[in-house]
Amino acid sequence: MESIWTDYLIQNHETKKVFNLFTQLGEEVINDHIAFRTFNDPRVCIDVLAKPFVAAGYVSKGEYHFEAKRLYAKHYELEGDAHAPRIFISELKLEEMSSFLRETVMDILNQASEEDLGHHLLVNKGRIWAKPSFKVYEKLRMESEYASWLYVYGFRANHFTVSINALKNYPSIEAVNQLLKDKGFLLNSSGGEIKGSPEELLEQSSTLAGNLAIEFEEAVYDIPSCFYEFARRYKDNNGQLYGGFIAKSADKIFESTDFYQK
Ligand code: NI
Repeated sequence: MESIWTDYLIQNHETKKVFNLFTQLGEEVINDHIAFRTFNDPRVCIDVLAKPFVAAGYVSKGEYHFEAKRLYAKHYELEGDAHAPRIFISELKLEEMSSFLRETVMDILNQASEEDLGHHLLVNKGRIWAKPSFKVYEKLRMESEYASWLYVYGFRANHFTVSINALKNYPSIEAVNQLLKDKGFLLNSSGGEIKGSPEELLEQSSTLAGNLAIEFEEAVYDIPSCFYEFARRYKDNNGQLYGGFIAKSADKIFESTDFYQK
């Protein structure tokens, strides 16, 4: 978890600023979940990336379908540890994509070494193929922002999520969002700043991914990197805190790394 967090901070300097803001305000930052992205190729699919978590005792708790984005996802929980972050892993359904996208993914996965593909922490290996081409990135992006992000960044945390329930002085998602905006952070407003509702037992918001200078084959370009999410969970009728995810909210959260929202 430490190495995943450290690598994630390198990708997004704004996240560190938000984290520091909360700690300076005397808050303890607890992670609600950590999200990862991958392709459904059997070498790198959800079940492969989930291995270190499953080995540590994590159990699969829910599955989700995002039809428009061609994604399937699962979430895992560490039973008996309420403070352990949930792990959310999504995968792009390659069979539903264009032949250009499928061939590009085959090409980059074929470049990866057996050692990297078999590594127990593949989930945090980053890009295990050659330097990306900006032309290919642009073409992928037109079809799937998700695929273009993966092509450049590889396997690493796409976002960490602050548990609002664990904050002492910011009990509502509105209060968290206001604090962030007052400090000059940009929020993802796709589908409204707040995704979900108390009735759905989960409210989420997120920063827009900051830009990072990436060395492409052609030149260095600034492109969106990772983002920070905020989640507030509610108790169900049985008094149990809701632990799952809402597909239509997560669908909008995925757009936090979109290019044209800036
Ligand atoms: Ni999330």
